[in-house]
Amino acid sequence: MPHIGILTQVGDLHAELVAYWIKQAGGRVSLIYADRVPTDGGISFDPAHPESARLRADDGVIAIGDLDLMWWRRVGKPRVPERVRDAAAREVVSNESRDAVVGLVRSGFRGIWVSDPDATRSAEFKLVQLCAAVKVGLRVPATLVSQVPDEIRNFCERVGGRMVTKPVASPIDVPLRAGVVTSEGLPGDDVLALSPAIYQELVPGEDHLRACTWGSTVICGTVKSPMMDWRTDSNPTIGTAEIDADTAARLAALNVELGLEMGISDLKPAADGGVPYWLEVNPQGQFLFLEGLGGPEVAKPFAEFLLARAATGTPPAGGRRPASRSGCG
Ligand SMILES: Nc1ncnc2c1ncn2[C@@H]1O[C@H](COP(=O)(O)OP(=O)(O)O)[C@@H](O)[C@H]1O
Ligand SMILES: [Mg+2]
Repeated sequence: MPHIGILTQVGDLHAELVAYWIKQAGGRVSLIYADRVPTDGGISFDPAHPESARLRADDGVIAIGDLDLMWWRRVGKPRVPERVRDAAAREVVSNESRDAVVGLVRSGFRGIWVSDPDATRSAEFKLVQLCAAVKVGLRVPATLVSQVPDEIRNFCERVGGRMVTKPVASPIDVPLRAGVVTSEGLPGDDVLALSPAIYQELVPGEDHLRACTWGSTVICGTVKSPMMDWRTDSNPTIGTAEIDADTAARLAALNVELGLEMGISDLKPAADGGVPYWLEVNPQGQFLFLEGLGGPEVAKPFAEFLLARAATGTPPAGGRRPASRSGCG
């Protein structure tokens, strides 16, 4: 049975539940809590033999080269013990810990990434993923990324005088959400020119889709909410949907295009009954709420995918899987 690593942080339920299902299926799984390095990391690394580097996982000290597959889930901010009081010292311990664990895994791991860290980072760029979605033929709403005021105003008129505006970058400290703006409501040129943003044709309706894709598998949850951004709804209705075969194939192609093994896409059904509109992909998006709130089971099939992928997948010669760069051409 393969040995699977999950790089994550303490309290990540996704990692814990997927690990549970891997163990239920007879697999071995090691949870590497990147945020625990300052208290419990056990890191030892010789650059001449990175694959023999050791670190502490939840099931004891492991050699990184022994893992067959690594789920690159998330790298939490290291938790520095309270006894380190000086702010600068805390920052140093945190940075050292984070770069050491990430560097160790990136240089010493020899198996299959789900997904490659470089591909993950690249795919997180909204412009990169939009481009890839257009390329694989997903139904992307009319979209403009711009800070040119005339262009933005013209685009708004073209899509009916009302459009969605949303950030280019995933906000970290400021909770920026997608919103609707009208031609009259657009701010002055000085504001529009200040930074680029995404402007998009508004896809109406209360139904939202969250499609979890790995390999050729697409598991699709539905979210019914009157809020445009359903994450602001404290009580959305969750269910399960079948996604049409054409969109499913294109979602799989999107992962390939971006060099990802998995992707969690947001879509909206089209009022014209055609294929749904694709809005974005989250390379490591949340999916557990779907099964927790009455939607499709996702964690167990994903664990099964990881086991199957680890057992059958062959990493390229020399170890690391190179991230495929989206060409956009
Ligand atoms: N063009 C659009 N038409 C209608 N709703 C949209 C549109 N774009 C985004 N939304 C809503 O806003 C939410 C957030 O936008 P999304 O593109 O998923 O970016 P992010 O999740 O990174 O903020 C979507 O899940 C959807 O509910
Ligand atoms: Mg989203």
